[in-house]
Amino acid sequence: ETIEWDPEDAGKSGYDHYMLKEIYEQPQAIRKCLRERVNEMEGTITVDDLADLESSGPVQFVACGTSYHAALYGAQLLRERGIPAQCFLASEYDVDSIPVSEETLVVGVTQSGETADTMSALRGANRVGATTVALTNVVGSSAARECDHAMYIRAGPEIGVAATKTFASQQVALALFSSVISGECSQAFVEALRDLPDQVQSVLDNSTAREVAQTYEDADAYFFIGRGYNAPVALEGALKMKEITYKHAEGFAAGELKHGPLALVTDRTPVFAMVSDDGTAAKTLGNVKEVEARDAPVVAVTDSRETVDQYADFVLEVPETHPVLMPILANIQLQLVSYWIANRLGRSIDKPRNLAKSVTVE
Ligand code: G6P
Repeated sequence: ETIEWDPEDAGKSGYDHYMLKEIYEQPQAIRKCLRERVNEMEGTITVDDLADLESSGPVQFVACGTSYHAALYGAQLLRERGIPAQCFLASEYDVDSIPVSEETLVVGVTQSGETADTMSALRGANRVGATTVALTNVVGSSAARECDHAMYIRAGPEIGVAATKTFASQQVALALFSSVISGECSQAFVEALRDLPDQVQSVLDNSTAREVAQTYEDADAYFFIGRGYNAPVALEGALKMKEITYKHAEGFAAGELKHGPLALVTDRTPVFAMVSDDGTAAKTLGNVKEVEARDAPVVAVTDSRETVDQYADFVLEVPETHPVLMPILANIQLQLVSYWIANRLGRSIDKPRNLAKSVTVE
């Protein structure tokens, strides 16, 4: 008797796809990213990878794809802590046409550390004498070698082409990075980081994303809106949906909806709205009402069910956390919705058509 053994499946530990396995590995990935970096007793954050880094100048992030969405969040965090920070698509970063100097800290956010556009941006930054940091998952990658410093996100290997756990680990790493660079850290933030892996686990255990997927798998298009820290997650939610379902999806900062995209909203375009109890909820609810008036189904991803219940067809809940960490939890719900829609549509989830895990041409 021979036993059929597919080495491809062996690595999936019983999951149908690497992507789902990697989504479920997020609590562990985040734990590893935090290990020995967060000191709860002292309420401090230290990142040994960056021990020799001295920087007081402006920060520029360069990245592509999902990593770009993480970088947008990183730049928000730094700006909020008083540090001038900008975020560039690596393919659009040109040291000859933007102010970058020896004072600038240029951070390449790249899971693989091999993306050609990001490498080219980092080489340009090094050429003009900027200090460079690679925020990457791969020790010894091209980005890690090119840059003056490397901070590792420690997500473990990611096989699925669509980035999932590496995005969560980038978000966490950037939250740590912004504390280190700004020297700002509160006890409340440290405690929220400590609780984060368990909260991610509880999202995974209790998510009703599969029901949402079943209800909306036939939709014409999917829209994602979020404000503040949740704006990058709106972009990421749409990118994930496109990558693995091949369906039309777009993400916007919630306030932009009325400046054009609203023309596309119908009863066949579900709108995923991140509603966070951080002072932005009232305005985002205003946007939710606008789409509701056009009969669009509303799926709210929220830490405050009572605020949205009456406007939403579905509520995907996340536990309450520090406002900075809410987008990490919200994104997990969106990953699950995309995964289950792609699964129902029978897509090639781990290797979507036309896409590569690491793009080494410019
Ligand atoms: C490819 C992958 C994306 C990824 C992007 C940047 O397009 O399919 O999932 O976000 O490259 O990759 P990096 O390794 O630089 O983070």
